[in-house]
Amino acid sequence: MVGERKFPAGRIALVGANGMLAQAVRRLIPADAVTVFFDLPDFDLTNREQVLAGLKEFGPELILNCAAMTDVDGCESQEELATRINGLGPGYLAEAALGCGARLVHVSTDYVFDGRKSNPWLEDDPTGPLSAYGRSKLAGELAIRDSGLRDWLIVRTSWLFGPGGGNFVETMLRLMSERRQLRVVDDQVGSPTYTDDLAEAMARLVTCGARGVFHFANSGQCSWHGFACAIAEEARSCGMALAIENIEPITTADYPLPAQRPAWSVLSTRKYQQETGACPPDWRAALRHYLKQGRGVLL
Ligand SMILES: NC(=O)c1ccc[n+]([C@@H]2O[C@H](COP(=O)([O-])OP(=O)(O)OC[C@H]3O[C@@H](n4cnc5c(N)ncnc54)[C@H](OP(=O)(O)O)[C@@H]3O)[C@@H](O)[C@H]2O)c1
Repeated sequence: MVGERKFPAGRIALVGANGMLAQAVRRLIPADAVTVFFDLPDFDLTNREQVLAGLKEFGPELILNCAAMTDVDGCESQEELATRINGLGPGYLAEAALGCGARLVHVSTDYVFDGRKSNPWLEDDPTGPLSAYGRSKLAGELAIRDSGLRDWLIVRTSWLFGPGGGNFVETMLRLMSERRQLRVVDDQVGSPTYTDDLAEAMARLVTCGARGVFHFANSGQCSWHGFACAIAEEARSCGMALAIENIEPITTADYPLPAQRPAWSVLSTRKYQQETGACPPDWRAALRHYLKQGRGVLL
């Protein structure tokens, strides 16, 4: 499932280069591209002068932004910081892209929606974030749209898992190896998405010359509880020893968290499919692939 499709060669700035998605994006940058990796502490998206100067000095043709403050609950107590990173930062990147004549690819989230729908969310559906994280990510989208830059692409995605970052799959595997009982929320539904598949989708969209907002997620849907059950089944079929005996479905109200999440956030990928001619792989097959080969550990 590691992408066949690579980004076009050229001068590429990868922002947030040490994050989980960026690990997958790195593998799809061709060897003959000239790439500079930008991340904290040397490159801080909240510092406009640093962003403009760093990118001007390099002069990229393509800016891939994988940076964000992604601690959804942490954003509730630090909304001002979340807004500076997720809201203002993408605007500085757009300003830098305008200055160098670069194209900007940015990643956003299903959490810009309120979840009050029961068929897949379309790119132009009304947004209505329920959390500080969702509000800050929406502000980032708007900063890019309003920047005057014409050549931008925003890819909204959901429920990411992959190597090189904390994610639900890793959390579940750890808990399932330690505990016999777990309680997992069953009334929030979405589409788990493998970072390798998202990186490949971004490369496809860039290659097609796509502009505007696109949704990409692995196909299919589940609740967090369904996701947890699938992780246990697939891990066991890979030969992993787990202690878990019972995964109890619970409601969001049974497990209060600081940030409110959308109840139903499945994204429509029809526009992506029409643009690229490619179909997103199924989430469960992607999970299986990740557990068998993607984690970088021998099972
Ligand atoms: N994870 C998900 O489930 C999910 C779902 C939907 C959409 N998304 C979106 O997908 C994108 C990639 O997410 P991810 O899970 O790969 O994120 P991640 O693993 O948290 O990586 C984000 C990277 O951005 C860096 N960063 C944070 N603040 C920064 C700043 N002020 N200046 C420069 N870099 C900064 C982080 O550095 P530090 O680690 O040092 O803070 C990290 O290297 C994000 O736009 C996110 O909003 C994620």
